[in-house]
Amino acid sequence: MVALVLSFFLCAGVSGSPARMRFSSYSGEYGGNSGDYFDQSSNQLDGPITALKIRANDSYIISLQVRYGDSWSNTEGSAVGNPSGAELFLGEGFVQVTGRFGSYVEYLAFRTNLGRLVAFGPSAGSGMTFNAEPLFSNAVLRYVSGRSGSLVNALGFHWDQDQFTETGNQSSFSTHPPQITPT
Ligand SMILES: *[C@@H]1O[C@H](CO)[C@@H](O)[C@H](O)[C@H]1NC(C)=O
Ligand SMILES: *[C@@H]1O[C@H](CO)[C@@H](O)[C@H](O)[C@H]1NC(C)=O
Repeated sequence: MVALVLSFFLCAGVSGSPARMRFSSYSGEYGGNSGDYFDQSSNQLDGPITALKIRANDSYIISLQVRYGDSWSNTEGSAVGNPSGAELFLGEGFVQVTGRFGSYVEYLAFRTNLGRLVAFGPSAGSGMTFNAEPLFSNAVLRYVSGRSGSLVNALGFHWDQDQFTETGNQSSFSTHPPQITPT
């Protein structure tokens, strides 16, 4: 079963500081409805997303770990086998996630505001494809939520502005972005 929900919130900054518009939106949830719900919203307090650590085999994304500032999130899925990683530069954020899913997440490709791309899992398969992007320009991926058990069952992507990446130039996307070399 697949639930696709798109919602957004407009919040005007108030009280004390100069009014500042904040723009958040949500893409997802992409995947199956088993596993246990998780939500990394409180990890945002550690900072913006700075790195990913993902395990995959020839069929599925096995695990996902996200670094917020200097702090790694919990590992969702199974920490079995060697992870691949991707580190962002200061001021770089994810502005698009494409992928594929069935009962589990099968493939994930992340694109940054600097036009770099990093992908995990098998790029071809029978699942449904998705394309997740922020509703508002200048927003980046701030945190993920989803469902997990022994694998990553589903993912949702929460976008918002980030003080460090607001100046990213999203019009400079290349159709052949340089790859982020998984470490
Ligand atoms: C990938 O991992 C899952 C879960 O451990 C397993 O069921 C599946 O057979 C594996 N696929 C391959 C191609 O190794
Ligand atoms: C953004 O990038 C495009 C293409 O490289 C360039 O033409 C434009 O001047 C840049 N805009 C800013 C605000 O840097």
